[in-house]
Amino acid sequence: VTAGLAPTLAAVPLAATYAGVRASTLALVAHLDPEDCNLQPMPDASPAKWHLAHTTWFFETFVLAPFAPDWQPVHPAYAVLFNSYYNGVGAQHPRAERGLLSRPTLAEVRDYRARVDDAVAALLAEAPRRVADEIAARVELGVHHEAQHQELLLTDLKYAFSRNPLHPAYHAPPATTGPRAPGPLEWLRFDGGNVGIGAAGEGFAFDNELPRHPVLLSPYRLASRLVTNAEYRGFIDAEGYATPAHWLADGWTTVQREHWRHPLYWRQVDGEWLEFTLHGLVPIDWTAPVSHVSYYEAQAYAAWAGRRLPTESEWEHAAAGRPVAGNLLESGVFHPRPAEAGGTSLAQLFGDCWEWTGSAYLPYPGYRPAAGAVGEYNGKFMNGQAVLRGGSCLSAGFHLRASYRNFFYPPDRWQCTGIRLADDA
Ligand SMILES: [Fe+2]
Repeated sequence: VTAGLAPTLAAVPLAATYAGVRASTLALVAHLDPEDCNLQPMPDASPAKWHLAHTTWFFETFVLAPFAPDWQPVHPAYAVLFNSYYNGVGAQHPRAERGLLSRPTLAEVRDYRARVDDAVAALLAEAPRRVADEIAARVELGVHHEAQHQELLLTDLKYAFSRNPLHPAYHAPPATTGPRAPGPLEWLRFDGGNVGIGAAGEGFAFDNELPRHPVLLSPYRLASRLVTNAEYRGFIDAEGYATPAHWLADGWTTVQREHWRHPLYWRQVDGEWLEFTLHGLVPIDWTAPVSHVSYYEAQAYAAWAGRRLPTESEWEHAAAGRPVAGNLLESGVFHPRPAEAGGTSLAQLFGDCWEWTGSAYLPYPGYRPAAGAVGEYNGKFMNGQAVLRGGSCLSAGFHLRASYRNFFYPPDRWQCTGIRLADDA
């Protein structure tokens, strides 16, 4: 299922990991009302309730149905309602109509989760030796799948709340979000050379991080931190959104069609710039990284600044071996924070904002998707998307690593996406 995943019979730690991730998903919605959990503000953004059910469907479909001998589906219709895109499994309820599912209710979805959790726990405790490796691999895949959906649940809810004139806050701003002053942007040089790219075989990796392979990198430089809101404001004030020379052709077409004039969540009210956040509508913190920009905007900003976006290999080579630490989901901040001043090494590599790279999302040389329906997880999306690296303030730390490849379409802005500049050395 996931090549590179060390076969293990460590069912006890995996059971604890499983229980922890499942509980942390429920914790994200514990203070929400059922009405909040059924919002679908656009086809790409699914209701929180659907995320709760779909992650459960994943374990039911790929773990319980094939491996739990006595498993009976909780409801026969859930196989269609909560299948996202796995044609090998069967039909799917239309993506854009997930918000129409007032039934099953949130309470019924919670019950669905509890019944699947009980069965998975029993299976992990009792699985015969001959299937335990495969079960463990699929549960581990499902745990990382759930982490991806935790982030989507929050970005989808943020988009939904942003469309409400009451500007609901998902979470109160924590006391730790006081102003910080990021230092000046420094340029860090990397020699490059013939470097190894891809998962190195230690711990979990998705199939799209494999196989590890050599890449020849010319000497390059990376910015020491992410582009700030203040710096991005400079692009706006310089008529960046009105200057086609900065933009890719498809980007300029999108700017014209969508009337883009600023990042997704910026609002100008009575001459003041505000930003919609998971803390509600607040004055923009100019020292924080710009977020919720598309690939097109990231590329145009870099062109205006006389730089470029890093390639995904440049990013990974620079990040390899560095600790996964930063403003992550566990921080409880739910918003990108300013970089700390004084650092001369790479800041904000993990957490804060996903970083657009200039690389198209393509298979690595020798890539083979997993056999069966679960092979639809990553491989069939390898066209027309750009790779993002690093993770955001909404990503669980255990889920991230230097070789991780996220991917979204060039116009997408509802994920927590930002900009790190690069240059040739
Ligand atoms: Fe999914």
